[in-house]
Amino acid sequence: MARQDSHAKIAEHVQRLGEKHPPIPLDSVDRTIHDAEAVKARFGHTIDYLARVELEVDRNVLELLVLLPDVDDTNKIFYSDVWQPQEIQHGLILDRLQTDLGREPAAPHMDVSFKIKILGALANLKPIQEVAKLMYFLTGASTERQAVLAYNQISAGLKEMGETAIAETIINPIKQQEPGHFAFYNMSASAMVSDRVLKPWQLFLARVLRERSYGLVGTNGRPDHKAAMGRVAHDLGIDADLEGYAREIGRVEQRLLWAHRQGMPFPPYILKALRESVDLYRERGFGPATA
Ligand SMILES: [Fe+2]
Ligand SMILES: [Fe+2]
Repeated sequence: MARQDSHAKIAEHVQRLGEKHPPIPLDSVDRTIHDAEAVKARFGHTIDYLARVELEVDRNVLELLVLLPDVDDTNKIFYSDVWQPQEIQHGLILDRLQTDLGREPAAPHMDVSFKIKILGALANLKPIQEVAKLMYFLTGASTERQAVLAYNQISAGLKEMGETAIAETIINPIKQQEPGHFAFYNMSASAMVSDRVLKPWQLFLARVLRERSYGLVGTNGRPDHKAAMGRVAHDLGIDADLEGYAREIGRVEQRLLWAHRQGMPFPPYILKALRESVDLYRERGFGPATA
């Protein structure tokens, strides 16, 4: 596909998302819960984790501005008119669900990391900014895919438990907005590669940086958040098949960065990050699994 065509397609996708998916209003939610203790035991920790991640969207926007000082209109419209307004509502709604379940509100981590600031300083050089942009899209694709999978699991679990009000008015509406985010990042990363925006050395650098800096959604390079993610993996049953999960969340970068590596089903650093989180949770724990 020619560069113009892929740009137009992405811009159209962003416009459609904005029109089809307005931010979910807080008062559209039915907060009826039949057995709060049971919901808390099974999904309390995961809801807490997701609420925090969603509320961290404001930091993600700051990071984006640091990494992509010359951000174009399509990206600007996506993060300011579509993505941020949707994600912040997800965070606020989940955070209220948390407190309805008798748990503490989420504590979002709002500091832009030193690593991002360094990369941001270098991103004033156009070739580095192009690498940062691909990394940003790959991160988006992987984290949004993780969100989609988590909300699918929670939705199915809540329905099984007969908690239809919160499943249908909280989790499902949120769940419906995540695939559009994933599609945006997937299309954007794919277009950069198919339009040959990056030279071989830039792709090489992107691979090295991805290998060194890959993080699961919401882990922020912090051991406590990694352990908390390990517990999410435990509570959602992801730890029963880490390789299958790595394949799911690594599919985009596997195709775009690592297709030349025959016989490698997913980037190894993704499985490594998953194992690290699960091990950290098992070693240091994160409260009893039933808390
Ligand atoms: Fe979200
Ligand atoms: Fe999202």
